[in-house]
Amino acid sequence: MKVVVTGARGMLGEDVVEVLQKKHELIPVDITGSPAVELDVTVPQSVLSLFKAERPDMVVHTAGWRDVDGCEENQERALLINTLGAKNVALACRLYDAAMIHISTDYVYSGGGKRAVTEFCPTDPVNFYGYSKLKAEGEITALLGEFFILRLPFLFGRGGRKENNPLQQTVSLLQKGEKVEATTDQICSPTHTLDVARVIERMMETELYGIYNVSSSGEASRYDLYWELATLCGLDTRLLIPVKSVIKKARRSHYTVFNALAYERTFKAGPGHWREALRECVERIKAG
Ligand SMILES: NC(=O)c1ccc[n+]([C@@H]2O[C@H](COP(=O)([O-])OP(=O)(O)OC[C@H]3O[C@@H](n4cnc5c(N)ncnc54)[C@H](OP(=O)(O)O)[C@@H]3O)[C@@H](O)[C@H]2O)c1
Repeated sequence: MKVVVTGARGMLGEDVVEVLQKKHELIPVDITGSPAVELDVTVPQSVLSLFKAERPDMVVHTAGWRDVDGCEENQERALLINTLGAKNVALACRLYDAAMIHISTDYVYSGGGKRAVTEFCPTDPVNFYGYSKLKAEGEITALLGEFFILRLPFLFGRGGRKENNPLQQTVSLLQKGEKVEATTDQICSPTHTLDVARVIERMMETELYGIYNVSSSGEASRYDLYWELATLCGLDTRLLIPVKSVIKKARRSHYTVFNALAYERTFKAGPGHWREALRECVERIKAG
């Protein structure tokens, strides 16, 4: 298949490219270009020109702005990148007959309850980032029939910009002996970007289109995750300071563990436990 991957230099995009390039002809694109092709998804003419020239069968749209506080402060930018960007890609898919895989978020749910959320639970975005991603879902479902929307929780991975990579940042601070505050009251199933890429690879081989909650199994707070990370890296766990979340700019979900009812019934196998996934990710980071 000929596949465009947007956001190809991001944390998730890098792993999508790594996994898919073994079987498919890829066109990696990102706003900053080389080694990806330069493409700003907020400019419809640029997106349409790329599709006209390349005629892809499929697009994996990972490009987005995931700075949650930034989205709250600059709502127009959030709508441009997360909503209009996705709409532009969906329109190009419609005009040039390609299927779309779109990356959404658990922040489309309120995360205020104590029960695991299924794909069919009401959406009620907890913050503007979640709102901009939910509006993107609406644009895609209005324009396309052949789409997969993956709602994902907190992601960890090896790649993307180092300054935006939560594991790389935490390890670097702990290595310098600096304290790291980590919240104990935001619970989800943290998921490895490599596992998401593997799910995407499997989905692409089917026509089982729809909206799916995808995550590792198990549940953890950021504190649990970073404690495990520090242990795996032989770093001092006493530098991790457990804190309750305080609202700085954007609100956060407190509980978005998934009951992936639709995903599990449809695709049977999913990512394993987050602890195993973290171990694999740390091994990849150590390997460089
Ligand atoms: N990370 C998470 O915990 C998480 C959880 C759930 C869902 N998601 C979603 O998953 C997707 C990938 O996230 P990620 O963690 O891989 O984020 P990331 O590392 O920031 O990657 C996103 C990529 O998109 C690029 N981009 C930004 N604006 C663009 C534009 N106008 N046109 C083209 N490319 C643009 C970014 O470039 P610059 O770096 O130069 O801006 C970056 O390379 C996003 O849609 C995000 O909303 C992430």
